[in-house]
Amino acid sequence: MHDLFKERLTDWRNQGLWRERKLICSPQEPHLLVNQDKLLSFSSNDYLGLANHQDIIEAMRNSLSEYGAGSGSSAMVSGHNILFHILEEKFANLMNLEKALHFSTGYMANIGVINAITISDTAIFSDELNHASLIDGIRLAKPQQLYIYKHNDLEDLENALRGSTQRNKWIVTDGVFSMDGDVAFMTEMLSLAEQYNAYIYVDDAHGFGVLGKTGKGVLEQFNLSSSRILYMATLGKAMGVFGALVGGDKILIDWILQKARTYIFTTGSPPALAAGSIAALTLLETDFSYVVKLKQLIEYVAQQLGQFKQYKPSNSAIHPIIVGSNDEVMNCMETLLKEQIWVPAIRPPTVAPGSARLRISLSSQHEFSDIDRLVDVLINIL
Ligand SMILES: Cc1ncc(COP(=O)(O)O)c(C=O)c1O
Repeated sequence: MHDLFKERLTDWRNQGLWRERKLICSPQEPHLLVNQDKLLSFSSNDYLGLANHQDIIEAMRNSLSEYGAGSGSSAMVSGHNILFHILEEKFANLMNLEKALHFSTGYMANIGVINAITISDTAIFSDELNHASLIDGIRLAKPQQLYIYKHNDLEDLENALRGSTQRNKWIVTDGVFSMDGDVAFMTEMLSLAEQYNAYIYVDDAHGFGVLGKTGKGVLEQFNLSSSRILYMATLGKAMGVFGALVGGDKILIDWILQKARTYIFTTGSPPALAAGSIAALTLLETDFSYVVKLKQLIEYVAQQLGQFKQYKPSNSAIHPIIVGSNDEVMNCMETLLKEQIWVPAIRPPTVAPGSARLRISLSSQHEFSDIDRLVDVLINIL
């Protein structure tokens, strides 16, 4: 029996798909201790550089003495800790949404929400580059109609919407696409939703904390407010902590609370996560310096990487360099590592075969000189 898996593993390795975890011996920051090596990292989604912020650490520490470590059971059984209640209200107020619900992770949010909103007579229209957690949610939900539209292709989407006879229509999209860094055309998408009586579920895992003047994500970027939009933000990326929040129309959130199995049938997250997340949202609300610095770095890196033909321009914190083959991208990563720079190589199945890439992600804690150092090495590689 195990020989079967051994063969599969060998095959996997031969395809250049073997994945390894580096051993991190320091907090998540641009300068990381990896085993004994000090690396300059462009690997993290900690876009605002909050993962090691003292306010957050202190809030988590204090909550531990007040509320303890664990939450006991599902919130439906052993109760909804007041810190999560405060967090949900704070997020809803911040984002000008009627109501919000906290999930343990973004992955669980996507699985739970998509399955909850897929009632009878449902059609889902999903961007072909959506994140794996959205895809998995849709696969599990088995909507009556599923249409996967070409990436960010509004015409393709409109044709599908026009032809749909289902009553409950949902457009499902990443806000910022996680491996390409480009942004969904939310304004046009909302117009289509209005025209065809559809709703939008937007996963803004990589937009929240980054896009918009004050980092409130795609809704702020495009100045959108609509009961047709169900909004998901994760807390483990720009917010530096862990978990996710889904917000929108009260009726929808009430329904999701009743029906999302990944909310109901799982132990509530530790209260310390709520405390840390509240502190992170407070930072986002009160100190714009992180967002401003990140935006300056984004502009700078886009300018610098513009010299490489393999660079796919981006206005988000994610900057891909499309290398092509799995072996080539691994060689690029290894060469960078020899120079103490870590840029992750992204391969299938995360991206399409033949489009393996270096995925450069920025943190507001990077310095402009860090980008110069990266670009100097890339000049020799690309
Ligand atoms: C677009 C997108 N959605 C959802 C997730 C899942 O979020 P989480 O890491 O909180 O499970 C991720 C990242 O891993 C993501 O990139």
